[in-house]
Amino acid sequence: MSPTSDLLAHALAQTGFHSRLSQQRRLYEAAKAAIHQQRLGAGSKLPSSRDLARDLGMARNTVIAAFEQLAAEGYVVSARGSGTYVADLQAHRASMRGVGAAPQTRSAPRHARLSRRGQELTAYAAGPQFEIQPFAPGEPDFSSFPFKLWQRLQNRVWREARHDLLDYGQSGGHLPLRRAITEYLRISRSVKVEVEQVMITAGTQQSLDLCAQLLADAGDTAWVEDPCYWGARRVFQARELKLRPITVDADGIALDEADLATKPRLIYVTPSHQYPTGAVMSLARRRELLGAAVRKDAWILEDDYDSEFRYTGRPLAALQGLDDDDRVLYMGTFSKVLYPGIKVGYLVVPPALIAAFRSALYDLQRPGQLTVQATLADFITLGHFTTHVRKIRQTYGARRELLRRMLAQQLPAGVSISREESGLHLVIELPDHVDDVALAQRAAEAQISVKALSTYYMEAPRRRGLLVGYAYCTPEQITDYGRLLGAIIAAGVRA
Ligand SMILES: Cc1ncc(COP(=O)(O)O)c(C=O)c1O
Repeated sequence: MSPTSDLLAHALAQTGFHSRLSQQRRLYEAAKAAIHQQRLGAGSKLPSSRDLARDLGMARNTVIAAFEQLAAEGYVVSARGSGTYVADLQAHRASMRGVGAAPQTRSAPRHARLSRRGQELTAYAAGPQFEIQPFAPGEPDFSSFPFKLWQRLQNRVWREARHDLLDYGQSGGHLPLRRAITEYLRISRSVKVEVEQVMITAGTQQSLDLCAQLLADAGDTAWVEDPCYWGARRVFQARELKLRPITVDADGIALDEADLATKPRLIYVTPSHQYPTGAVMSLARRRELLGAAVRKDAWILEDDYDSEFRYTGRPLAALQGLDDDDRVLYMGTFSKVLYPGIKVGYLVVPPALIAAFRSALYDLQRPGQLTVQATLADFITLGHFTTHVRKIRQTYGARRELLRRMLAQQLPAGVSISREESGLHLVIELPDHVDDVALAQRAAEAQISVKALSTYYMEAPRRRGLLVGYAYCTPEQITDYGRLLGAIIAAGVRA
């Protein structure tokens, strides 16, 4: 495979979370991103459509169509007989501004011109293209939300007509909610926390962004799990951190000598249920990581995004509970356990960071939604949260078992299902030779939204697999689509 094919294959893998896009569109997006980021420089020659089609395992027509679209938009130029080359975007932009260009050239509207960072960020933007379909990983079951009860609690908040709830949120969020979360985290997650340490944020994404802004400078290193939650990766990239991908194995993040020779400012981990592999970080690894953070003077960002969904055994304690050196910032979210659009999460910071985080939260975000926070506080303190979690845990646990049974009947030899007993998705582990991206694409054509494990890796994927969400699916859908998915996988593995 030529270096350019290799680069495009890698870029293509990173667009994998658009699993519903056609292959042509994904290749176009991947090449465009590589050109914007100057990983494919002006003048570089692209492989022939025949070679690239072979290297990427695509139909030649797909490659030709993607090249044509890139050419139509000025990203590449084709010289008949000699091949396709990356265009000089600087010259193209200059001509678009009218510098040395024909007088009739229209200049690009000012508002359309993005910063360098903006171009890089939007090159891979996931956007709202992801429709929820059976097996979409991470989606909770909206039908189980207690609408009527919530409405009653919310009405009560509004009836009280409290003016203070209409203002911006100060002091890190609505105090009764912070108290309720403090209690919950102490009891359920063994987090060492006082109410002053809890900040209410607009979800994990915002918690991560605050941490990146306040604790690291552009160019600093962040250790991230490989494979990694793309939302976290995007935040760190947006803050111009240097990402060092660290291998994940069955015990979670696995530091080697070369990793330990680097000096991170931030370490992002999902210890309770590694996203996406599902690995639970062992106690030995937790201690090792805490020790490394102290030696390196780094902050650990613990993302405990779906810890409520543990189906057997005792809940696992949070890493933060083992931290005697105030190195861990712990974050959770109501996105999975209630509904994603609620946009409420929490961040627990060490005592020394309280003042800085409170003022930055206020200055940078102007938080609000105090009526939602008040409703949620009542929902928790009146015991409804615990009841809701118990109920959906049972529902999701049963769906998980059903999906496991359905798939187990059909999956061919060499394909296994991840064993861990938590979360909202299973990982179907595929043999190394199977192209999980192509399988996910085939599933998407059958209206099934699974995600390819390889697309979450920054380095060469160590494992291939499919992430299959079950929480959102009814038992009937699990039975019908599970059968279909099993058949697609069996055919893909045989091919
Ligand atoms: C690992 C991980 N963390 C956090 C979240 C949720 O983030 P937020 O609170 O921003 O919705 C997700 C959502 O899919 C996730 O997969």
